[in-house]
Amino acid sequence: MSDFQHEIQRRRTFAIISHPDAGKTTLTEKLLLYGGALQQAGSVRAKKNQRSTTSDWMDLERERGISVSSTVLQFEYEGFCINLLDTPGHRDFSEDTYRVLTAVDSVIMVIDAGKGIEERTRKLFEICRMRGIPIFTFMNKMDRPALNPLELLDELERVLGIGAFPVTWPLGDGPDFKGVYDRLEKTLHLYANQGKGASRAADHVTGADDPRISAQLHPSIHQEWLEQIELLSLAGEAFDDEKVRVGELTPVFFGSAINNFGVQLLLNYFVRHGMPPMPRKSSQGLIEPTRPDFSGFVFKIQANMDPNHRDSLSFIRICSGVFSKDMTVPNPRGGNKPIRLSYPQRLFGQERESVETAYPGDIVGLVSHGAFRIGDTLTQIPDLHYHEIPRFPPEVFSYLHNNTPSKFKQFRDGLEQLLNEGVIQVFYLHNSQQKTALLGAVGQLQFEVVKHRLETEYAADVRLEVTPFTEVRWLEPDTDVEQFKGAYMGSNVRIAFDTDHVPVLLFPDQWSVDYFAEKNPNVPLSKFSTLQ
Ligand code: G4P
Repeated sequence: MSDFQHEIQRRRTFAIISHPDAGKTTLTEKLLLYGGALQQAGSVRAKKNQRSTTSDWMDLERERGISVSSTVLQFEYEGFCINLLDTPGHRDFSEDTYRVLTAVDSVIMVIDAGKGIEERTRKLFEICRMRGIPIFTFMNKMDRPALNPLELLDELERVLGIGAFPVTWPLGDGPDFKGVYDRLEKTLHLYANQGKGASRAADHVTGADDPRISAQLHPSIHQEWLEQIELLSLAGEAFDDEKVRVGELTPVFFGSAINNFGVQLLLNYFVRHGMPPMPRKSSQGLIEPTRPDFSGFVFKIQANMDPNHRDSLSFIRICSGVFSKDMTVPNPRGGNKPIRLSYPQRLFGQERESVETAYPGDIVGLVSHGAFRIGDTLTQIPDLHYHEIPRFPPEVFSYLHNNTPSKFKQFRDGLEQLLNEGVIQVFYLHNSQQKTALLGAVGQLQFEVVKHRLETEYAADVRLEVTPFTEVRWLEPDTDVEQFKGAYMGSNVRIAFDTDHVPVLLFPDQWSVDYFAEKNPNVPLSKFSTLQ
């Protein structure tokens, strides 16, 4: 294997998805601990109500006094080079969160074992499912009363529709949590409360039928548990690496992130079974990561990181070839002048460090001064485009009014720029006289960001107004919208167009979506724009 192939094979680029409070930040911290990127982990809890627009990792940065970019952490573990991408959560949940999932090769899904699958996890899971990437599950907080583990597995199948293969199996929960059994290695790892897990957990390993366990538990409980393990191997999902690789089967781990328990088992398994960078779909078919020509795409733009300069950092996921500092690529926005990829930055370390070379799977940040847009392909391969970034269905809507007619230009230009950056989606209502934009977002905070940036950066004067809409469905691009009238539409349903002039329908609730579908069975409705 060449050095180049070796660099690709040892890369693991992933994100952690979870519902707020399930333990994503805690797990991130413990993974960094094992990766040697943190010497000593403590509790990284910032008061949740003080969290404003910052991501979890910015809190981490402040609390630990280390420089962690809020976008990607790179560290080495047992010969593997790990890129962990942040999926902003909490209040700053936005399309960015979804887009990050287009840049990773696998995900770790953290579930609070006391609560089961929660809303946010389900939504993020759907994006992973769409991409068919491997999903590893960590059932967290086993030191607290948990749902029955069989019920948790069943929920994965029922709610998410994914098969589950428990790699580890818990013995007890809450105050009775004794440890986890590694079903592949056939060893029982005994749980010891680590006092919030300030350092790596000591690992005490024994056999499943160790008589000391029976002494601590009621022997009949131990016996029942042994039978459960036996039953799992007979009746449970069979282990199938191939199904894991295409996202049809999720390996499941149980543990307690805060106590650092079960985390190393997860990490060891993950680096061995997680995916290295895979071929990516493009306008020219699948592009192998080993292809020598450089290619990558922009999945995130962080604008105005320094409020004194209108700078923006574009984050590129490298898909093939070797990236090197100062290389030039054709301008993805057209024109004859190539773009020099200068000032590339790696985003973990005491300081932002300049990157000389990066490989498929890596993320580099480029100071771009507005040169790039989300979804742009940067490559030396002529006419190649990656179609990785779909438009995600907005879930919240707001009208945006221009308050001062003399400032219409500021309003229009500012909004256009924010649209290009992918900060927000905009729709225009059919047959509307109003000079009003209808904004669509996946999180409320996106609206506040738009208003704030229009006012501070573009000196516009705007106002947000609530709308009755909660659902949008795309129609086929050439649909004649005049056919939808009266009773067959349902009340409060409006026709609008997205910025590509593709027609959409806006609904006040799911009920009206169903009503419309029932009345118009021949009109295909899509949750995503069919133009990509
Ligand atoms: P998030 O990023 O997914 O939102 O979750 P985060 O790691 O911030 O964890 C949410 C809460 O759950 C935190 O409590 C954290 O300490 C706790 N937690 C995480 N993992 C475990 C675990 O394995 N067991 C138990 N019992 N708790 C866990 P908090 O009250 O917000 O903060 P703190 O007061 O504990 O610091």
